[in-house]
Amino acid sequence: MTALTSQDFIKKEDKFGAHNYHPLPVVLARGEGVFVWDVEGKKYYDFLAAYSAVNQGHCHPKITEALIEQSKTLALTSRAFYNNVLGEWEEYMTQLFGYDKMLPMNSGAEADETALKLVRKWAYKVKGVPANEAKIVVCDGNFHGRTITIISMSSDPDAYNHYGPYTPGFVNIPYNDIERLEKELQAPNVAGFLVEPIQAEAGVYVPEDGYLKKAAELCKKYNVLFVADEVQTGLARTGKMLACNHEDVRPDILVLGKALSGGMYPVSCVLADDEIMLTIKPGEHGSTYGGNPVAAKVAMTALDVLQNEKLAENAERLGKIFRAEMKAINSPLIEMVRGKGLLNAVAIRPTNDKTAWDVCLGLKENGLIAKPTHEHIIRFTPPLVITEEQLMDAIGIIKRTFKEFGI
Ligand SMILES: Cc1ncc(COP(=O)(O)O)c(C=O)c1O
Repeated sequence: MTALTSQDFIKKEDKFGAHNYHPLPVVLARGEGVFVWDVEGKKYYDFLAAYSAVNQGHCHPKITEALIEQSKTLALTSRAFYNNVLGEWEEYMTQLFGYDKMLPMNSGAEADETALKLVRKWAYKVKGVPANEAKIVVCDGNFHGRTITIISMSSDPDAYNHYGPYTPGFVNIPYNDIERLEKELQAPNVAGFLVEPIQAEAGVYVPEDGYLKKAAELCKKYNVLFVADEVQTGLARTGKMLACNHEDVRPDILVLGKALSGGMYPVSCVLADDEIMLTIKPGEHGSTYGGNPVAAKVAMTALDVLQNEKLAENAERLGKIFRAEMKAINSPLIEMVRGKGLLNAVAIRPTNDKTAWDVCLGLKENGLIAKPTHEHIIRFTPPLVITEEQLMDAIGIIKRTFKEFGI
């Protein structure tokens, strides 16, 4: 029997799978650290890291071990019963991030949904908003996931078209616009402001210095909850444990996901203090898998790895090198290099018939995989375990590819 080729696997997915993604034509079969290998054995630098879920590197041995050990011992109990790992994880999380309580979920979207529910409960039970009148302010360009409620907040037609009717109760404002935020926060029924510290999916838009700090202060002034979606920016990606740490901001509600498991398992959570968290009573929210023992063990190990291997510090240091090297290319076709830590993007000026997609195909040929966000932006987010030597090697590939494209 002949082995299946990449083309065979692509055809299979195309025939039997829904067409809700447009993957780069590379079929991965193995991963280790910053590297992945395709079915034919070709090695690539992974400069997407599963949208920042694999901050700790592919198949980190300690996280893999935690997954194997716990899944051999006790995998799922549901929350109908207690288990002997969840409490330990909750204690770990609340101490590490400085909150009274944690609520565990699985995907980032579910954690964001949980945060929205908490804001609404708090609005009615604590702030005193009249029933069903609560409003949540969100930003244009946001990405918080794919549920009906979440896409109801989206300003991207690809995300919301033909999925109506939409969930009401959201007020969209421009990102990075403090004056507009203050205007909206004054409305009496506004209960929350949900924001990404950096808009990653939109194209790695970094707000002005001080934006998060001012936004958090305004939320306090108008008795509105400041909710930070750190599903992508959190957990060392931007050079600190949380992107909010860059401005010493402590969100009222913190949403985490992705790298919470080091890419091993879907694990997400919401952190908040009692005044907010205890507005949800037994039976009012939950998830069969949320808080299962495997998730709990994997998450604790994934966070240990981030701290023990000083991955935030590595992201901070190597991110500066990456941006300096990209800027040094100094080509008129590179419109902008932006980012923080190892969450970076290069925007390509659309002057010829080549798109970011074509550049990503070229990068792939040269041994580095990355993915465009929107037509002319390439996001570069390697696993945070990358060394300086590996980074310089990868930068060499990027420069060579740009040169081939006349960039
Ligand atoms: C900021 C942010 N929030 C939420 C999500 C949704 O996470 P998930 O795909 O795990 O539902 C994402 C995913 O990219 C994200 O970047």
